[in-house]
Amino acid sequence: MFDAFTKSAARNIFYGGSLVFLVIFGGLTAHSHYYMVTKSTASAPLTEAVARGKRVWERNACIDCHTILGEGAYFAPELGNVFIRYGGDKDPAGARETIKSWMQAQPTGVPGRRQMPQFNLTDRELDDLAAFLEWTAKIDTQGWPPNVSG
Ligand code: HEC
Repeated sequence: MFDAFTKSAARNIFYGGSLVFLVIFGGLTAHSHYYMVTKSTASAPLTEAVARGKRVWERNACIDCHTILGEGAYFAPELGNVFIRYGGDKDPAGARETIKSWMQAQPTGVPGRRQMPQFNLTDRELDDLAAFLEWTAKIDTQGWPPNVSG
């Protein structure tokens, strides 16, 4: 049997095998791309306010205490879905207001609770931050986190 395994047979197996897996690889790449643009991207448009809100988020290093979509520090609650937690799927304006009031009410000074600093953000920064957190909540994370409390 090994007599029949010629140089050209080896070459054909090499080229044929490479071609098959190249086609599979191409198909999987196309599928990943399709999935990204149709499923796993935020359904809400990326507005200027959202982009500014992200910069407010970064400038004030909220991630030093919070996680967003699981990334960050574990001192304070997950904020990727705080907009949903504040009822934003039913009342978006109400949820935006709640986020703003929360920011303005810090620190609470409640004994025994972890405290969040006061950032003294302007009204516009607060609006942008709320827009950013609203946008984040609309990313399709495929069911993560598993519960609304994050
Ligand atoms: C020094 C740590 C720290 C930093 C920095 C911080 N936070 Fe917080 N944050 C907390 C803590 C602690 C809580 C929970 C307080 C409580 O439950 O009483 C909290 C709670 C929150 C909540 C309410 C979450 C909920 O589920 O009700 C929001 C919204 C929030 N933070 C937004 C922000 C934003 C936006 C920034 C950045 C501008 C930020 N935080 C920076 C510590 C921090």
